Amino acid sequence: MKSLSSMALKHESGQLLVLDQTKLPAEEAWVHCQCPEEMVALIQKLAVRGAPLIGVAAALALAKQLEGGASEQEFFAAASKLRAARPTAVNLMAAVDRMLTAFSRFEGHKEQVVREAEKIFEEDAALCEAMAERGARLVQPGDQLLTHCNAGGLATAGIGTALGVIIRAHQQGKNIHAYVDETRPLLQGARLTAWELKKHGVPHTLICDNMAGFLMSQGKVTRIFVGADRIAVNGDAANKIGTYSLAVLAKHHQVPFHVVAPRTTYDPSCPSGKEIPIEQRAKEEVSRHAATESVWNPAFDVTPRALITSIVFDDGIA
Ligand code: MRU
Repeated sequence: MKSLSSMALKHESGQLLVLDQTKLPAEEAWVHCQCPEEMVALIQKLAVRGAPLIGVAAALALAKQLEGGASEQEFFAAASKLRAARPTAVNLMAAVDRMLTAFSRFEGHKEQVVREAEKIFEEDAALCEAMAERGARLVQPGDQLLTHCNAGGLATAGIGTALGVIIRAHQQGKNIHAYVDETRPLLQGARLTAWELKKHGVPHTLICDNMAGFLMSQGKVTRIFVGADRIAVNGDAANKIGTYSLAVLAKHHQVPFHVVAPRTTYDPSCPSGKEIPIEQRAKEEVSRHAATESVWNPAFDVTPRALITSIVFDDGIA
C-alpha cells in the first residue's frame, strides 16, 4: 500500500498508524495497528473515531491484512467484525462493503483491492475539500458559529466536515468566532475540536453543553454547523448525543442549523430516523464521577429534518 497521511491516520514505511484520540490533548501518541482485530478494538474504544474516519481506517486495515497474505476466509471474517464495530455510522458499513465488492470484482487480486482502500482514503479527503468550499459560502462575515462534538481532521481523512467548513471560513478571512460544545460524556469538543481549532488559529470559546441555550438567548450564535453519522432518506440525521437538543434550541432562537456530511453518510436503505440504530455505550462513561451506576448512555441522537435548515453534502446543498 502507498504512503498515506492525515491528521489521525497514516500509512508510513509499511506500517498502519493511528493517532490515539483517547489520549488527546495531553499526548499525541501514534499506535501501530497490526491486524483488523486491533482496528476493531481501536474503533470501539474511540481511539479512532468520527464516521468517515472509521470507514477509511477499516478499509486500510483490510488492505493491510490482504497484503500480509490473508486467505479469502480470513478477509471476509475480518470484514464482518469491522463492519459491526460500531452500529450508527453508516460510513463504516459503506467502506467495508466497498472492499468486499472490490474483492469479488477483482477475484481477490491483492493489488487492486489494496488500491480500492487507497481510493477510499483519497476520496474522503477530496469530499472534505468539496464540503468545506460549499459550506463556507453559507458563512457570513463576522458569524458567531457553534459546533458540537468533533467533525474535523480527526474524524476524517481530510479537513473535516462541519469543522472543515468553520476552518475554511476562517482561512477565507471571514472574521468568524467558533463556540465549541464540550460534548459530554467523552468531551470530543473540549479535547479534540478545541485542539484542532488551536492548531488552525481559529478564534474559539469552549462552553459546557448546557450553556448553549443561554448563549443563543443572548444573540451570540448566528449559525450552527454539525456533522452526521447517518442521514436517512427523509433527511433525518443522526449525530453525537446532544445534537437534537441544539437543533431544538436553534429553532426557538431562529438560528440556522446546518448538517455537513459527505455522500458516504447518506443511507439510501434507511427511510427515516426511526430506523437508524443508535449505539448504547458503557455506563461507566457517564457514571465515573456519579453516586449511582444507574445510567442511560446513547452515543447518538436523531435530529428530525424539520429542525435542519440545510444539509451540506460534497455535491450540493439539500
Ligand atoms: O462517537 P464519535 O466521537 O465517533 O462521534 C462522532 C460524531 O458524532 C461526529 O459528529 C460525526 O461522526 C461526524 S464526523 C465528520
